[in-house]
Amino acid sequence: MTRKESTVPRRLRFEIFRYNPEDAESVPHMQTFELDEAPYMSLFIALNQIRETQDPSLQFDFACRSAICGSCGMLVNGRPALGCRTLTSDLPELIRLHPLPVFKLIGDLSVDTGTWFREMVENTEAWIHNQQAFDPEAQEGRMDDDLAHAIYEGDRCIECGCCVASCGAANVNADFAGPAGLNRVARFMMDPRDTRGDGDWFEVVSNSDGVFGCIGMMACHDVCPKELPLLEIYAYLRRKALAARFAG
Ligand code: SF4
Ligand code: SF4
Ligand code: FES
Repeated sequence: MTRKESTVPRRLRFEIFRYNPEDAESVPHMQTFELDEAPYMSLFIALNQIRETQDPSLQFDFACRSAICGSCGMLVNGRPALGCRTLTSDLPELIRLHPLPVFKLIGDLSVDTGTWFREMVENTEAWIHNQQAFDPEAQEGRMDDDLAHAIYEGDRCIECGCCVASCGAANVNADFAGPAGLNRVARFMMDPRDTRGDGDWFEVVSNSDGVFGCIGMMACHDVCPKELPLLEIYAYLRRKALAARFAG
């Protein structure tokens, strides 16, 4: 809930993780900055002001500023969130910012989510598998509305990494597909254009690096900024895994 606007602007205190892994002299530490709060100030605006007026070396990522590109995930007072969608008015005066765990640190608040997502896609072969020869004369295939909607839900993932950072299993097992990976697998599993059978999917997700590596505390579900139905997605994957097990 948004804090009730006061006529006196708050003086915000930011404690920001600083470390440049490319610099042999750099030592991880927290650096404090202060800033007057403005109405409707997001972390994107606050961090830009800090960089422009106090420290041009501060590293963080933003591109779209509207929860589309997925590049601004960070730990905000310990909780993964998008910086562009987090208003300072929803936070206390002391705001602690850390980079997302699990991903490779580029510097300060900037992490490399791209490599993690590419490896996840390669490991789970998360793309359409279909041996059918291309026919330019073929009519566009039809799809049931509910199924198309369910696939679209999975495709709304912006690969921000917030769910992965919140996930206990992903934090201790680098091979775990992670919440975003399980969502992506389910999206292709549902897709009738993907001709992989239950046995093929069983190999991909029915192990401790897949859906059975999930310990089910649902932190991912709580932090996903796109509110993807991750709970239902894992239930779907478990049902499919069990069906394939008993069929085979
Ligand atoms: S419910 Fe599973 S996938 Fe989600 S955060 Fe917990 S362990 Fe990770
Ligand atoms: S499932 Fe949600 S939290 Fe996870 S990467 Fe996609 S959009 Fe981000
Ligand atoms: S800047 Fe694109 S999601 Fe935040």
